[in-house]
Amino acid sequence: MIFAIETSCDETSTAIIDLEGNILSHIVANQQEHEKFGGVVPEIASRAHIQILQRIIPETFKKAGVSNSSIKIYCSTCGPGLIGGLLVGTIVAKSMAIANNKPFYPINHLEGHALSVQINNNVKFPFILLLITGGHTQMYIVKEIGSYNLLGTTIDDSVGECFDKVAKMLGMPYPGGKHIELKALNGIKNKYNFPRPLIKNKNLDFSFSGLKTAMKIEINKHNSLNQKQIENFSASFQQSIIDILEKKSELAIEYAKNKIPGINSFVVAGGVAANKSIKDSLTLLCKKHKFKIYYPPLSLCGDNAAMIAWACLKRYKLGYKEDIHFKPRPRWSLNELK
Ligand code: KG4
Ligand code: ZN
Repeated sequence: MIFAIETSCDETSTAIIDLEGNILSHIVANQQEHEKFGGVVPEIASRAHIQILQRIIPETFKKAGVSNSSIKIYCSTCGPGLIGGLLVGTIVAKSMAIANNKPFYPINHLEGHALSVQINNNVKFPFILLLITGGHTQMYIVKEIGSYNLLGTTIDDSVGECFDKVAKMLGMPYPGGKHIELKALNGIKNKYNFPRPLIKNKNLDFSFSGLKTAMKIEINKHNSLNQKQIENFSASFQQSIIDILEKKSELAIEYAKNKIPGINSFVVAGGVAANKSIKDSLTLLCKKHKFKIYYPPLSLCGDNAAMIAWACLKRYKLGYKEDIHFKPRPRWSLNELK
């Protein structure tokens, strides 16, 4: 079995999976400590990871009904992410590996998101990956594990960050993405025509900060907002995001069709992949281009240790080596992986 820890941001998560990839136990503890600050406070997050891990590690073993003697490999997220949290999770997982005389595998958080979709779907390589999280907005061609070809990335904010900042302007709690989605359900999506930065560019880079500023300017015209206004702002904002993601995804599909004969899978992963309206629009797009679309189940869209264990299992099966000396990396892009 594989034991995994994820502590790269503000979720503290542990999981045990077997070598067939079945999840035996999985705990995700969302840190509530940050809500009143409207964003993650790194020092508070690291301290909370220490506290929470002490509680959930024994729970994870109890739920799986196993002890350390059944664990063949220990792993943790070693980056990218907040260095304090990465150090906590990595030191704990490495200590467990050393104490039990077992190997330790360093896992890249983004690879966890990228492969999470294979936990519940039989997705074959190669595929296009739209990675939409709180820290990243990127488009890749994934040829196989360890081969990630970056087609485009955000030049400023990530899409999740933009959702969270706009949600804060609208008076919603952190993280605000899911609250915007909920309010948008009853709003008019063309009530405001917010910008869609870089939508006409032919490259695959994204930009969201201009949209965020436009929202701020419009919201600041009002002394206070009523429910209807919040719903309309949410719906119009979300529509801008959808239009951008759809346009860039279409460019990626057209590029891939030309470059990689036979490619027909499109994967959306990361916390923002929980958004149903985004998934619905990308599903239609994929249908138009005869691509199959895949996304992880809701429970595995956000940060979680099951996807870290899964990425570790894949690496182990491919013969990748353990590395107890690996130092956590706040920045660690997918195309640096082998
Ligand atoms: O992947 P993730 O859990 O963490 C990172 O690796 O960054 O992504 C978190 C992001 C947050 O910005 C959160 O607001 C966003 O995912 N998110 C959503 C939704 N659920 C989570 N954004 C839009 N709609 C949602 N339903
Ligand atoms: Zn993540």
